Amino acid sequence: MPLPDLERMMPNRFRDAMSLLLLLLFFESCAGPERPVGSTEGLIPLPQSVESREGTYVCDGGLTVDWPEGWAAERAVVEAWFERAGLALTEASGGTAGLVFEPDATIENVEGYRIEVDASSMKVYAATPTGWFRGWTTLRKMMPVECETGCAEGFVLPGVLIEDAPVLEHRGLLLDGCRHFQDVDFVKKQIETLALHGMNVLHWHLTEDQGWRIEIESRPRLTEVGAWRTEADGSRHGGFYTQEDIREVVAFASARHIEVIPEIEMPGHSSAAIAAYPELGCTGDTLEVPHRWGVFKDIYCAGKEETFVFLEEVLDEVVELFPGPRIHIGGDEAPKVRWEECPLCQARMKEEGLANEEELQRWFIGRMGRYLATKGKTIIGWDEILEGGLPEGAAVQSWRGMEGAAEGVHLGADVVVSPTSHCYLDYPLRSTDLEEAYGFNPLPDSLTHGPGRILGGEGNMWTEHAPQERVESKVYPRLTALAEVYWSGPDRTTAEGAYGRFLDRLDRFYPRLDAIGVDYGLETTPFAVETRAGVNGKLEVLIRSKGRGVEGRGQWNGAGPTLSADEPFTAEGRGTVEMEVGQRGLWTGQFETVALDGHGAVFRPIELGYDYSPWYTGGGDQALVDGRLGSEDFRDGAWQAKQGQDMVATVDLGSPQAITGMSTGVYLYQDAWIFEPESILWEGSTDGQSWFTLAEHGPLAVLKRDDRQLRLDVDAEMDVPGQEARFVRMTAVNAGACPDWHAAAGADSWLFLDEMVVRTAD
Ligand code: ACM
Ligand code: ZN
Repeated sequence: MPLPDLERMMPNRFRDAMSLLLLLLFFESCAGPERPVGSTEGLIPLPQSVESREGTYVCDGGLTVDWPEGWAAERAVVEAWFERAGLALTEASGGTAGLVFEPDATIENVEGYRIEVDASSMKVYAATPTGWFRGWTTLRKMMPVECETGCAEGFVLPGVLIEDAPVLEHRGLLLDGCRHFQDVDFVKKQIETLALHGMNVLHWHLTEDQGWRIEIESRPRLTEVGAWRTEADGSRHGGFYTQEDIREVVAFASARHIEVIPEIEMPGHSSAAIAAYPELGCTGDTLEVPHRWGVFKDIYCAGKEETFVFLEEVLDEVVELFPGPRIHIGGDEAPKVRWEECPLCQARMKEEGLANEEELQRWFIGRMGRYLATKGKTIIGWDEILEGGLPEGAAVQSWRGMEGAAEGVHLGADVVVSPTSHCYLDYPLRSTDLEEAYGFNPLPDSLTHGPGRILGGEGNMWTEHAPQERVESKVYPRLTALAEVYWSGPDRTTAEGAYGRFLDRLDRFYPRLDAIGVDYGLETTPFAVETRAGVNGKLEVLIRSKGRGVEGRGQWNGAGPTLSADEPFTAEGRGTVEMEVGQRGLWTGQFETVALDGHGAVFRPIELGYDYSPWYTGGGDQALVDGRLGSEDFRDGAWQAKQGQDMVATVDLGSPQAITGMSTGVYLYQDAWIFEPESILWEGSTDGQSWFTLAEHGPLAVLKRDDRQLRLDVDAEMDVPGQEARFVRMTAVNAGACPDWHAAAGADSWLFLDEMVVRTAD
């Protein structure tokens, strides 16, 4: 006979005795099923207060529920969870149910809750439907992880009292659906995962240069044209959310008490819209939807009335789809060159008495803010909206550090923080690892004294370099850390030893992410590469494991003995080590590639004729002879760079040697002002005084537009192979100022080199 029925019929005392009996049976495991035991030890975010209580709740495969009033959508979410768990739920009819949701008007925070578990029941108290849902989520995370996929035999939950409420009221993820499109199921899965973390905002970035992703019925070309781009290789990328899709996503989020804040960018990041409707730009020129990343000059014309007619029509449909109180209007990275040259924009500035283009942007955003106010919505914008004066009533999202947050608070605005220093989940782990994310303080003392207020923070997932299948491994576990920072508050997360305790809980939390299929990534860069001069001047390499429980295994050029992380090896000639990452005893199938060159000049004395950039040191004075080659990522730490100057380096081989070849790697990324050198000259000398040419490369047509972003090998064509030299000098000539067609025309260009490879005969 199923216990739920018995439970309803039995008086409390008798049922308690039954529970105890079941528990004894369980612990002695002499009869009956073994039931998994839940606990509070894997709770993330950390609740404000957790106390053990007498008694243990035992669920033997089914339970009765006392639902709260008016909780239909949420109830469906909870019921679906129990169905997945294989536990029969029945609605209680009198008596104490196994799972009870009770009102408690004394709980002040709208998301606050109290959980009481004892032998008779699991009770969730809250003053609001949101509080019940957050409480339910915590209870779910206390249940044994087995229940996420199935625990039909029931479970055991030790008695506990939890009192909890979030420190920050806005806890979100920005998801960029534009640079790479994600399908609706994926977006819903992210919302489900946010709910598991107690997060309450999905900031959904829906319009961008590289794609317009929201169907607007009155402007069909936005998605017919603006949602699709042709990539450099000729393939097509795109997609969009129909209004039906959006309603589905919003309802899914709403049932989990997550607000979806749409971001409709203006006036910049609007190339896709201008590609669809060229009249929206200042020039009227027809554009392609760009496939390159970066910041584009063509933005909405602030002088034409039709721009505002367009945006109002778009927003009329947007406000109908998103019931929340806020619309994000972007406002970041809007270059003003078109406005400076546009007679209509200039006329608008005169007419409105605006001193400069920054004020024109404030006027633009202010006008749209007033329009949205008539629809009952307030606006949020990136911190650039502070330049030229904060539009009235606007909230600020600070991303370029915390300065925008400080200014917003000073001006009395509501502020959301997501600085690049801690919250950019698209950045590599090298820039922000788990510990750094956990160390974020969204509430520094200087920002807690008003008149404005820090509402909360977000993690920002931009997707230039992350198609859908890579998004989760970038977001998690770093967002797990931020979720705790925002909910539990910096007083708790910056306390002595807090990070270590977080990691202990995270180890218990990972299996829950596994159970719902979240493809979380690593906690930190798994390996550090160290090189040094070994015996006979050969290149000795140590690939050190860094992360918790990280191991590595690989091979030199895909052959030979297995190399292990933490064991040095000698690298001869050019090649790569593909090191597979092992974590927590499992080989992950993720590889880190290290490119090396054990050439004839490694760790020979080198003299540089320039001061390298403090941001791109390549590892320091010996970067060009450390055997480490640069990757396709110019921030990987292996590149040495200098802006606006030639790079000249002289290496001393110690004695005259027959030189058989030379090469270097250069980087090309014109959008980041990085150009190929105009030419490279290699010279030799026996005495360091008189020099003869070994090889020359160039002059190159380096100032031609080239959209690629990549590492290029420059190999020297030796004049006379085998010439003897003790000293070798390499002169890489800077390309000069960025040319006229470039967004930064006239600015000094950058030159990047990774290694000064010298091959000698022996
Ligand atoms: C931003 O990262 N451009 C807000
Ligand atoms: Zn204009």
